[in-house]
Amino acid sequence: MSAKEQASDLVVPRSVAVIMDGNGRWARTADFERIRGHEKGVDAVRDTVTECAKLGVEALTLYAFSEENWERPKREVSLLMGLLKKFLQSELGTLMDNGVRLVHAGRRARLPSDVLTLLDDTIAKTAGNRGMRLCLAISYGARQELADAVRAIARDVKSGALLPEAVDETTIASRLYQPTLPDPDLLIRTAGEMRVSNFLLWQISYAEIHVAQVCWPDFCKDDLHAAFRDYGRRVRKFGKVL
Ligand code: IPE
Ligand code: IPE
Ligand code: MG
Repeated sequence: MSAKEQASDLVVPRSVAVIMDGNGRWARTADFERIRGHEKGVDAVRDTVTECAKLGVEALTLYAFSEENWERPKREVSLLMGLLKKFLQSELGTLMDNGVRLVHAGRRARLPSDVLTLLDDTIAKTAGNRGMRLCLAISYGARQELADAVRAIARDVKSGALLPEAVDETTIASRLYQPTLPDPDLLIRTAGEMRVSNFLLWQISYAEIHVAQVCWPDFCKDDLHAAFRDYGRRVRKFGKVL
């Protein structure tokens, strides 16, 4: 049975975003070092990407590393960067097999050059794929994204390319890191936390929020399906009266 048939009762959102949280807690519970949680989290990333692609999700945005995460201990940051490189190398085959196109959201300035090279390589190699778009939010912060957008708009106004009165929601949306990605219909956060931690503040205006209790390394296909079922029960009104 195909993934689509197996999940025929699911309402599949067009665009999904995930705050992958709880790697450290997962490791602590198992009496491992925090990094073991991040390592195990890579398996959950692979499974989630594959399943979303198979189910026909159009865009999946994964919060992999926030601007604030740079403040973590140096050793954890460098292990996370190493893991990111390993992921980009080991998962290219999976991305190609599933027709996934990779894109990046975030600031490039602080990312190590070897990570950037691999990231750009993988983006280029998958650019011709026509299936799901996978957006990795790395060195990402929504306030920083909005500040960058405002700076770009200010430059255009200063140069005369844009009139202040012409600035509207579309102007702002078009200056975000990945302006062509559809806004998330569903935002999933794992490890039971009910906050958005500086993720996609503009784009999640009307996203439905699903909080899963499991820590990210334990997040599996059934948890993804549960999130989609939960999403399917929501009544989305977008401010209107139905
Ligand atoms: C999420 O897991 C991964 C990243 C933020 C990189 P955490 O590392 O935040 O795990 P907890 O929240 O400490 O359990
Ligand atoms: C959000 O998780 C960032 C990522 C999942 C990459 P954090 O663990 O960093 O967020 P807080 O500190 O709990 O808000
Ligand atoms: Mg956390």
